[in-house]
Amino acid sequence: MPAKLSVNLNAVAMLRNRRDLPWPSVTGLGRIALAAGAHGLTVHPRPDERHTRYSDLPEIRALIDDEFPGAEFNIEGYPTEDFLALVEKNQPEQVTLVPDDPAQATSDHGWNFVAQAAFLTPIVKRLKKGGFRVSLFSDADPDAVSAARDTGADRIELYTGPYGGCHSYSAKAAKELERLGKTADAAFAAGLGVNAGHDLTVKNLPPLAKRIPALAEVSIGHGLTADALEYGMAGTVGRFLKACGW
Ligand code: PXP
Repeated sequence: MPAKLSVNLNAVAMLRNRRDLPWPSVTGLGRIALAAGAHGLTVHPRPDERHTRYSDLPEIRALIDDEFPGAEFNIEGYPTEDFLALVEKNQPEQVTLVPDDPAQATSDHGWNFVAQAAFLTPIVKRLKKGGFRVSLFSDADPDAVSAARDTGADRIELYTGPYGGCHSYSAKAAKELERLGKTADAAFAAGLGVNAGHDLTVKNLPPLAKRIPALAEVSIGHGLTADALEYGMAGTVGRFLKACGW
């Protein structure tokens, strides 16, 4: 089975937050994504709510429950007490724990599973007890996988930023891809599932999916939103020209 696609709505939320207006609608774009066949929606609420707002989460939960009951809600973020309370309130199918500082523009590294084992293990236990699938954001490092497994998590999410940052399928991209592949191999051998995310595009996704055929899910925001703008621009200009009277 190919990897499932979870559409990350943070870029849409960031655009919405430029103005005190309700568009683009985060839930509305989520509905379009799910109606088009996406398997789930991802949000990454941060304490300053500069992207997804806390108030978006119950709306997305209701959208999935009422209209797309087979889809999954994935909430990702740094596990503060506030974040864990948000998760428990909004009941996602999956929680992805990310070691991002609140001031960081975007996630740019995975956990140090050995150094942060004592922090992560009880949190994973609490989330698992709550019935949530837990995934941990992970650098491409095959040696780190057994410590990730020891936290009790179900999956790792491979941080694909260094691969996606190569822009084209160069020798460097091939090297990054192989590191991701080796990490996935180690994760499968340890009994973990594997997700992936960051800077994935329609161009760099096929080689990743080929190298990691058992990839469970990709979570994509920036590249997908950029494509939605590019491929939706012509039709939208037509609608506005019509509104002008042309
Ligand atoms: N996975 C995690 C943990 C992230 O923080 C992000 C960015 O919010 C993504 C996936 C999606 O990355 P991108 O927006 O580059 O597709």
